[in-house]
Amino acid sequence: MHPMLTTAVKAARRAGNIINRGARDLDLLTVTAKGPKDFVSEVDRAAETAIVETLLATYPDHAILAEEGTAHGRNESAEHLWIIDPLDGTTNFLHGFPQYCVSIALAHRGIVTQGVIYDPVRNDLFTASRGRGAYLNDRRMRVSKRQHLRDCLVGTGFPFRDGSNLDAYMAMMRTMITQTAGIRRPGAAALDLAYVAAGFYDGFWEIGLNPWDVAAGSLLVLEAGGLIGDLSGEGDYLNGGQVIAANPKIFAQIVKELSPFKGELLGSVPRARA
Ligand code: IPD
Ligand code: CA
Ligand code: CA
Repeated sequence: MHPMLTTAVKAARRAGNIINRGARDLDLLTVTAKGPKDFVSEVDRAAETAIVETLLATYPDHAILAEEGTAHGRNESAEHLWIIDPLDGTTNFLHGFPQYCVSIALAHRGIVTQGVIYDPVRNDLFTASRGRGAYLNDRRMRVSKRQHLRDCLVGTGFPFRDGSNLDAYMAMMRTMITQTAGIRRPGAAALDLAYVAAGFYDGFWEIGLNPWDVAAGSLLVLEAGGLIGDLSGEGDYLNGGQVIAANPKIFAQIVKELSPFKGELLGSVPRARA
């Protein structure tokens, strides 16, 4: 395993232990609202602190972009940037709904080169290094081979926070519900991308995502032989908020169905940018 990936895995497992401990007694957690339907718990913050400390202990000169704002040690001139979601799926976690994960990526000069997504509920570790393939635990991952959208299971995420773009999103849903074999909305975007890489889904799309939701998962998808882009199939999927990811056959079909909505979504900005 690449040494930087080994460090990221160590950090992700530490965060996973904190999350699992927190999950034992959810009623005791202190939870605050960052915005409408946007909650953060002491577990998100403690997990982020553990991740950042682990990464900076080995790589003190690297920069940090982490959802809950841990930026100590941040080095603006660094070529290496760690992009971290310490707990993706906080709403699920707070309700005891067992679908959430830790997501850690390393970007070198803007290109994601290492990615880890860790599901502490199932103890599933999804990893990828650029050019070296993607793995679920110790098994190589490959995207699915389905060729027709009508046979496909597709994941998504709703714009649930402020309701912006809801009409356009509902129109997309109508299209995708009619064109596919099934739609799922489990509630942790990073894990959704890992599921595309693992071939559990044939594709996924969401609008309004942040870089820390997308970074690690994007490398998993690419290294598993899939494609990722914005609604036009190209563009800046890492910072732009819009994501389509799928096996190569299905990717083109989803882009064909959803790209007409891209114009309607102008103004759809994620919460922060890298
Ligand atoms: C959220 C989850 C959710 C997605 C949201 C994300 P968080 O992340 O990934 O599935 O629909 O857009 O913000 O806030 O739980 O880390
Ligand atoms: Ca997230
Ligand atoms: Ca989060």
